[in-house]
Amino acid sequence: MAKTVVVTGGTDGIGAALVRALAERGDRAVVLGRNRERGARLVREGAGLVSFLETDLSLMSNTREAAKEIAATHPAIDGLVFCARFFQTHRTVTAEGLEHNFALFYLSRAVLGEGLAGVLGDHAVVINVAGPGHDTPIAWDDLQSTRHYDGVRAMFQAGRLNDLLGVDFAAKHPGIAYVLFHPGTTATGFAGDYDPATAAFIEQQKAQAKPATDVVPPLLALLDGPPRNSLSAFHLRTELTMRDDSADAARLARLTSSR
Ligand SMILES: NC(=O)c1ccc[n+]([C@@H]2O[C@H](COP(=O)([O-])OP(=O)(O)OC[C@H]3O[C@@H](n4cnc5c(N)ncnc54)[C@H](OP(=O)(O)O)[C@@H]3O)[C@@H](O)[C@H]2O)c1
Repeated sequence: MAKTVVVTGGTDGIGAALVRALAERGDRAVVLGRNRERGARLVREGAGLVSFLETDLSLMSNTREAAKEIAATHPAIDGLVFCARFFQTHRTVTAEGLEHNFALFYLSRAVLGEGLAGVLGDHAVVINVAGPGHDTPIAWDDLQSTRHYDGVRAMFQAGRLNDLLGVDFAAKHPGIAYVLFHPGTTATGFAGDYDPATAAFIEQQKAQAKPATDVVPPLLALLDGPPRNSLSAFHLRTELTMRDDSADAARLARLTSSR
C-alpha cells in the first residue's frame, strides 16, 4: 500500500532526493520548507503525489500551525523525516527570541513530532536525520549559546539535543519507531549563512562527498521496515550502539517542554 511521508527540509539535499524517490515509486510526500520555487518544482515532478507546505520552521508558531494543518488533512502518516537545518556562522535569534540552531534544528523537531504523534499510524517511523553519537558536551546552563557563540559548536550541540529528543520521544510513544540517522558527509545544499573561510571548507567537503541519492536507499529501507526497538540509531545502514541518555533526555524535556 502507498505510504504518506512528511519530510521537513524536503526542498533540497537529502530531503528532496527522498521526496523524488518516494514519488517515483508511488508514495505520497508532504514537503515542508521555505523555498517556493523548489517546492513547486517537486510538486510538478511528483504528478499529484507531492504536496508542498511553505513554512519557516525556525518559528514555533509556524511549526505548530504546520502540525495542525497536516494532522487535519492526513489522518494517517507512515513516516516523518526531519531534514531541515540551516548553518549560522554568526549567532541569530528568531522573531520568537530563540537562538536559530536551537529553534530550527532541535525545538521544531520536538514540536512537530509531538504535534503529529497522534496521526502516526501503527507501523510508523520517525527518522531524525542529524549526527547521532557526537560527543559534544551540552552546556546545560546555556542551551542557546548566549555566552560564546561558535556556529559549528552550536550546530553540534543542537545535534546532541536531537539524540536526547529521540530518547524522550521513544519513552513517551513506545509504539512509534524513532530512528536517529546519520547520513555521513553528503553533497547537498548545505543551507546556511557562512563566512568565507567556512564556505570554502564546505565547497571542499562537497567536492569529495557522495551524492544525496546515495542516502535514499537506507532511508527507504527504514521507512519500509521500521526497526522493532522504539529507539535506534544508524549511520546509513550500520546500526550504532546507544549510550544511556535517559536522565539527560528527561532533563532536556523538562527544560524545553514549555517552549
Ligand atoms: N549533508 C551532510 O553532509 C550532512 C552530514 C551530517 C548530517 N546531515 C543532516 O542531514 C539533514 C539534511 O541535510 P542536507 O545537507 O540534505 O540539507 P540541505 O541540502 O542544506 O537542505 C536543508 C533543508 O532545510 C530547509 N530549511 C532550512 N531552513 C529552514 C527553515 N527555517 N524552515 C524550514 N525549512 C528550512 C531547506 O529548505 P528551504 O530553503 O526551502 O527552507 C532545505 O530543504 C540535516 O538535518 C543535517 O543535519 C547532513
